[in-house]
Amino acid sequence: MKKLYGVIGDPIGHSMSPAMHNDAFETLGINAYYHPFHIKREDLAAAVAGMKAIGVSGFNVTVPHKTAIMPLLDEVDPLAQAIGAVNTVIRSDNRYIGYNTDGEGFIRGLNEEYGKSVLDKHILIIGAGGAARAIYYTLGQQGAKRVDIANRTAEKASQLKERCPYAVETELLALIEAEEKLGDYDIIIQTTSIGMSPGVDKMPLRLANIRPDAFLSDIIYNPAQTALMKEAGLRGARVQNGLRMFAYQGALAFEKWTGVLPDPDRMEKIVQDKLGGKTC
Ligand code: ATR
Repeated sequence: MKKLYGVIGDPIGHSMSPAMHNDAFETLGINAYYHPFHIKREDLAAAVAGMKAIGVSGFNVTVPHKTAIMPLLDEVDPLAQAIGAVNTVIRSDNRYIGYNTDGEGFIRGLNEEYGKSVLDKHILIIGAGGAARAIYYTLGQQGAKRVDIANRTAEKASQLKERCPYAVETELLALIEAEEKLGDYDIIIQTTSIGMSPGVDKMPLRLANIRPDAFLSDIIYNPAQTALMKEAGLRGARVQNGLRMFAYQGALAFEKWTGVLPDPDRMEKIVQDKLGGKTC
């Protein structure tokens, strides 16, 4: 019998996940279908119970349900618990178990593009929101040595550090301090929304001190090249946008459901094609 997977969110109409996962099911000859479910906040508990009752085999979770879903699941993996957000649910013995593949998806994509593991590098994360938390805690879980955080609001960066369950050496910086010390970093990870449409010419900090041998990864993928990436490239640094992270978080979810890791290049290409010429 065909298995049913999906993604829940609000809004959900523009999700790229169905195209990515349905292509992978087809390519790998897996008899399954992935559907976008538009679920409003007030219907979340009923939706989860309903999906379990009708036998949905697994699903992704997106905005605004990533945190609210946690108490509705039978179990939440410790890393997702620490991150405080679930993006992937698997069904095992009729129990729903929540995971977070965003951080690992990001790190796999970064390691690949960087050409080697970044764990022993001096890393700077810009931002201290949900995406920064997933990346910082997963870096911590994987044994990263030195990860500093620069954020507009000091209190949010300090909470991020204090609540991290893994031992990581971390200095907290104001954005202006990070600008001054930028030459210290091998890897710079941009996690804020600055640079997305409509503010496509905005940057979270100035890059005057970036090293030409540094690597800058911006988790934004629309536009495909942010102002920050452009500037870093002009200064000789290598750059990457967020497409790889998006493709990999999906690929890792797929692997959790089926035991097979689909081709992340193919997934990335599908998202790129769906974005088409649209760059803002
Ligand atoms: P997400 O879950 O996508 O990471 P978020 O939790 O709202 O989003 O976090 C947004 C991040 O972008 C935060 O680090 C935020 O800084 P503050 O903690 O100071 O709010 C950062 N951010 C958003 N707009 C910003 C701006 N105009 N200038 C500087 N930082 C900004």
